[in-house]
Amino acid sequence: MLSKEAFIRSSLELHLFFLRIMKEHALFLEGGFTPKNRDLAQRADALKEQLANLLAQAVALADGRVSRDFLQSGEAVTPFTLRAEEATVFFTGIPINTDITRAEASLSGNGATNNVTQVEAQVRALNDMAIRLVSELINFKTSLLNDMLTCKLFTFNYPLLIDHIRREARLFVDMLTQLQRGVEVETLRDALEQEIFWNRIMSEHAEFIRGLLDPTEDELFAVSNNFANEFEQLTQLARAAVGNPPQQELVTDQSLAATREIRNFKRQGTEGILNCNIRSIILPLLADHVLREANHYLRLLQKFDQMVPGSNGNGDNGTSYVVRQGDTLFLIAQRFNTTVERIVAVNSQITDSNVISPGQRIRIPRR
Ligand SMILES: [Fe+2]
Repeated sequence: MLSKEAFIRSSLELHLFFLRIMKEHALFLEGGFTPKNRDLAQRADALKEQLANLLAQAVALADGRVSRDFLQSGEAVTPFTLRAEEATVFFTGIPINTDITRAEASLSGNGATNNVTQVEAQVRALNDMAIRLVSELINFKTSLLNDMLTCKLFTFNYPLLIDHIRREARLFVDMLTQLQRGVEVETLRDALEQEIFWNRIMSEHAEFIRGLLDPTEDELFAVSNNFANEFEQLTQLARAAVGNPPQQELVTDQSLAATREIRNFKRQGTEGILNCNIRSIILPLLADHVLREANHYLRLLQKFDQMVPGSNGNGDNGTSYVVRQGDTLFLIAQRFNTTVERIVAVNSQITDSNVISPGQRIRIPRR
C-alpha cells in the first residue's frame, strides 16, 4: 500500500508529465484539421483548455512535493519548451497559456510535508477529474481514428499518430486508476511492460520524424530510420524478456543506451527546428514534446536499472551484451558510454579488439 506522501508525489509527477502531453495532443489534433472541420477543431481546443486548467491545478499543488530527480529529468519542461510554445502560437494562431510553463519551470523539489491529509484529498480529486477528462479525450481520438480509417474524415495527422497518442492517454488513465486504488506503479513487472510500451513509442517517434522531414533532409531521414528499426528490435526483445529476468537486464541496458542516443537526437532536432535549420513540417512544440517523452522514458529506465536483480543500485556492476550485425567494439563502447580498452579488460575471450562476431556475448563495464 502506498504511503500518503508517495501517493501525492507519484500522482503529481504523473500529472506534470502527462497532462502537458495530453493538452499538446489536443493542440496537435486541432492544428491538423482542414477548414471544413472547424467544429472538430473547436472541440479539440475546448479539451486543450480543460486539460490546461487541470495542469495548472497540478502545478499549484506540486511545489516542494515532487522529487528533484523528476524536475531535473526535463520531462515536465525542457529549456526549449517556452520557446517552442511561443513559436507554435506564432505559426498556428492556436493559443497556449505559457504562464503554466513558467510556473512549472520554477518548481522546487522535495521538502513539503505539511497538510498531507488535506493535499491527499485534493490530489485524489484531481486524479478523478483527470481520469474523466482524459477518457473523453480517448473517445475523441477513437472517433477521429475510426472516421479517418473509413475515409469519412481527412486530417493532416497520420492515423498511426492518433493511435499512438490514444495509447499514451490510455496508459495515463490506467496508471491514475492504479494510484487511486493505492497500488504502487513502479514494480519490476510493470518495468518490463513500460519498456515494451515506450520502446514502441520511441520507434514510432522516429517514424513520425522521418515522415515529417522535408524529402531533401537525407541525413536526418537515415538517422530517424535507424532509430525506428533499433527501437522496433528493442520492443521485440522486451516482449521476449517477459518471465526472464537476465534477459530483462539486457533489454533495460540496451534500451537505456538507445534512449540516451535518441534523446540527444531529439534535443538537437528541437534546437534545429527552433533555429530554422531543419526543413520539415514538424511543429516546434511537437519536437519538444517527443524530447520530453524521451526524458521521461530515460528517467524510468534509470529507475528500472536499479530494480533489476543483481544490480547493486549504483549501476556499476556491468552488464552483458549480445553483439549485433554491424557492431564494432568502438560503436558498442560509444553506445554504453565506455571505452574499447575497458571492454577488452573485462573480456578475456577477446584477443583482438577488431574481431567480434554477431551473437557473441560480451561483458560491458558500466562506468
Ligand atoms: Fe508520443
